[in-house]
Amino acid sequence: MGVYSEKVMEHFRNPRNVGVIEDADGVGTVGNPVCGDLMTMYIKVEDDRIVDIKFQTFGCGAAIATSSMATELAKGKTLEEALKITRQTVAEALGGLPAPKMHCSNLAADALRRAIVDYLRKKGDFDRIKQLGLEKELEKMEKGEEEEDHEHGEVCEA
Ligand code: FES
Repeated sequence: MGVYSEKVMEHFRNPRNVGVIEDADGVGTVGNPVCGDLMTMYIKVEDDRIVDIKFQTFGCGAAIATSSMATELAKGKTLEEALKITRQTVAEALGGLPAPKMHCSNLAADALRRAIVDYLRKKGDFDRIKQLGLEKELEKMEKGEEEEDHEHGEVCEA
């Protein structure tokens, strides 16, 4: 078996939900502090559910595969459920990722979280932002910080 699971390779070769939603309800962008790659997620929300989602990335193959999987996991979920998608959830759904590439899967989960915050702030629903524990994220977004805090020691071997 290679370094990547069959599922990772399959999502890399045939990524789901790539592109832009022009009239998105929420847009979230993050930069990866480890490698400098970028990711943007677009969501459409109806009745508190993510009814459509697309992503664009300047990331590596693992970022493409994890984003593809994250969008599949997020579609149809309520905002609260979608916020539970972490890099671990995504990596597990893909049958694992090599440790040096785990940082790539941060991009999808973080950009999705930001897209949700963006949707709520556009709606002016700051109570919900508080209730979901997203105030810090909002603060960072308002300050224009693109990067998330991540554990030190992660390396990029792309
Ligand atoms: S996202 Fe930058 S190396 Fe994977």
